[in-house]
Amino acid sequence: MRRYTSLPIALFSLLLRSSTCVFASEQPQQPFEFGAMSASTYSLPPLPYGYDALEPHISAQIMELHHSKHHQTYITNLNAALKTQAEAVHTSDIATQVSVQQGIRFNAGGHINHSLFWQNLCPASSPDAKTSSAPKLFKQIKATWGDEETFRDAFKGALLGIQGSGWGWLVKVEIGKEQRLAIVTTKDQDPVVGKGEIPIFGVDMWEHAYYLQYLNGKAAYVENIWNVINWKTAEERYLGTRADAFKILKASI
Ligand SMILES: [Fe+2]
Repeated sequence: MRRYTSLPIALFSLLLRSSTCVFASEQPQQPFEFGAMSASTYSLPPLPYGYDALEPHISAQIMELHHSKHHQTYITNLNAALKTQAEAVHTSDIATQVSVQQGIRFNAGGHINHSLFWQNLCPASSPDAKTSSAPKLFKQIKATWGDEETFRDAFKGALLGIQGSGWGWLVKVEIGKEQRLAIVTTKDQDPVVGKGEIPIFGVDMWEHAYYLQYLNGKAAYVENIWNVINWKTAEERYLGTRADAFKILKASI
């Protein structure tokens, strides 16, 4: 398992680039501008399904709070931190630029992780929830772990092994011509943006993701999440690139 220790410069570049608004948001937002310096603002991506669509595996109450309150808070705090950073850059206030980095890392990570998470879930009744929607990915899963049950056990073990809050991810690792699958965990809201890694799907292991429904039954949450994994999205991410996986983030600008 690996943990991430720094937010790559490329991500800061992504966060700082201005772009046109594409996705609908509750309130239109404009880039902050300070002379020649500006910073993008992010908005909450809409869920691709209703708040009750993942029941009975994840309750509507959890989904509404998780999306409209928790995810929105990460975005609100990220935008505020980016505004502070833009002002500090404009005034050459290096001390403030340094002090704001942890807030950007935490809240940008929250926005990245949740944006990916919503997209890699779907209603259990959807054809996309069937593992047959990911034939090429499953071929690689079986080549890596031997069979589906062994893979699920390994993923479950990683999730339940997280101490405190964090995330578990299946990722595709691409280094040169090498390509392999790996299970990784990240602490708090550290984003799954490791070098050469493409997130296939992730599971939120913060208590806010399950406690209202499962209480201390974390293992039951981990068991039931399999019913609502969007294997079609997983297959697309496996066959695609990092840009494909992270396109939802650009859409939230
Ligand atoms: Fe969360």
